[in-house]
Amino acid sequence: MWKPAQRIKHKVSPGRWPTAAEIRSSLWFSPIQLGQSRLEQRTWVPAMVPWRATDEGKVNQDVIDWYVRFAEGRPGAIVVEATAVRDLPSGPLLRIGDDRFIPGLQELTRAVHHASQGETRLFIQLIDFLSIRRRPPAEKYFRQFLKITDTHRQKLNMPDAKEEKIREHLLSLPDEKLDEILNESELESLRMGYRERVTDMALEHIRSLPQILPGLFAEAARRARDAGFDGVELHYAHAYTMASFLSALNHRDDGYGGSRAQRLRLPLEVLQKVREKAGVDYTVGCRFLSDECIDAGSDPDDAVYYGVEFARAGMDFLSLSRGGKFEDAKQPQVGWSAYPYTGRSGYECMPTCISDEFGPFGRNIEPTSGIRHAIREAGYETPVVLIGGIHGYEQAEAILQSGDADIVGSARQSLADPDWFRKVKLGRGGEVRSCQFTNYCEGLDQKHKQVTCQLWDRQALEENPDRTRDGKRRMLAPRWHANSETVFSNK
Ligand SMILES: Cc1cc2nc3c(=O)[nH]c(=O)nc-3n(C[C@H](O)[C@H](O)[C@H](O)COP(=O)(O)O)c2cc1C
Ligand code: SF4
Repeated sequence: MWKPAQRIKHKVSPGRWPTAAEIRSSLWFSPIQLGQSRLEQRTWVPAMVPWRATDEGKVNQDVIDWYVRFAEGRPGAIVVEATAVRDLPSGPLLRIGDDRFIPGLQELTRAVHHASQGETRLFIQLIDFLSIRRRPPAEKYFRQFLKITDTHRQKLNMPDAKEEKIREHLLSLPDEKLDEILNESELESLRMGYRERVTDMALEHIRSLPQILPGLFAEAARRARDAGFDGVELHYAHAYTMASFLSALNHRDDGYGGSRAQRLRLPLEVLQKVREKAGVDYTVGCRFLSDECIDAGSDPDDAVYYGVEFARAGMDFLSLSRGGKFEDAKQPQVGWSAYPYTGRSGYECMPTCISDEFGPFGRNIEPTSGIRHAIREAGYETPVVLIGGIHGYEQAEAILQSGDADIVGSARQSLADPDWFRKVKLGRGGEVRSCQFTNYCEGLDQKHKQVTCQLWDRQALEENPDRTRDGKRRMLAPRWHANSETVFSNK
């Protein structure tokens, strides 16, 4: 992963933990209303893909165990991982693109509601993504994939040569020469792997996205409601289709790109259709970017505009993330696809404790606060969710007290210790297992391996040193019992 040049090592320091009495007067552990959903507390576990679904995109026992483990910490809300609105094979990622997925999802909602004793609201993140291929070996690219054009013939000065000869010649050329002969998209397909964009207007299925996506999201939301989810989070963030419509790089010329208002058009049409299908009384929010963190991408001013318009359109909550784009992703190895968390924008999404002078623990506070204030000035009360480097009570409570956000959540800290909200609430913060922000988990995600936390694995290793490294990866966080003695201490 990309790292800032300064390489300053920041200390993970959760700060002072509150007493149970302080918790009773805190904002973080006070209720809030999101549309029709009441959260018992303003704690939140955002979407995290654990790579545990079946290859057919269905819920299995591993998926249930994973979310039940988070539910045992009884956060105000959990957002289930990015779940595909299309019914297309995409490996062990959850899908909701057909009614046959409903029974499994229903089991999941029942299990989570039961495990949290009804305290946790369960939302599901709905995603659409475009096609991306693995980086091909050069031989395969030139011999099979590349379409030989007149431009190639002209630039190579081989007007009458057989196609086979041109392919072999291209294969023999050094990189600098290929830069002159191949166009930008051919070079990208060779060096990064082919990737579709929302601006590929020559492709019919891309041109027609605005006609197709509202219906797909709406049906998915209806299924989410039928399966017992308390609401849906529309995934308008990171590197995926809807975020690409919002991006300043979206120059579509069909009324769905160009100006901010036109870039926002499809996300609003999706919302409208979701409302029609899932019901006006169903909780619908979205996740979008406070800053794309890429050259010529959308910036915090765009995000303020989007935030106010989403609030005006009736979103029930807005969850802010940042970065996580393909545009600055590192070149993948041959046989792997590009991963949108390897460049600077990826770092901004999931910063590690090796950072610049600003550090990794609150990079999203300022832009999120700007969005929330603009929404309030426009006269809307839409709750705003802040995520990014949160791992302590004082930090979270200060954000809420100063009006920077309405809900404060954590992904990696909740992964490191799914019981942490409960421990804090019970006045036992000293027992929290603090995330070290090293991104071992994110490395597993990148390799499409089942996600675990380094700290669980380390504990397993200490408990049983004879087994091989791989056998020691534990699939769930170590147990914690609220009525037990301290089993883990930070001190
Ligand atoms: C393993 C892993 C999987 C993730 N999957 C998703 C996802 O499905 N959808 C999403 O919006 N964000 C996803 N994220 C990003 C997190 O929700 C969160 O925005 C990010 O980790 C920063 O928050 P943190 O500092 O509290 O970890 C993922 C993060 C991790 C570590
Ligand atoms: S592996 Fe665990 S400790 Fe490391 S960043 Fe991920 S959640 Fe935190």
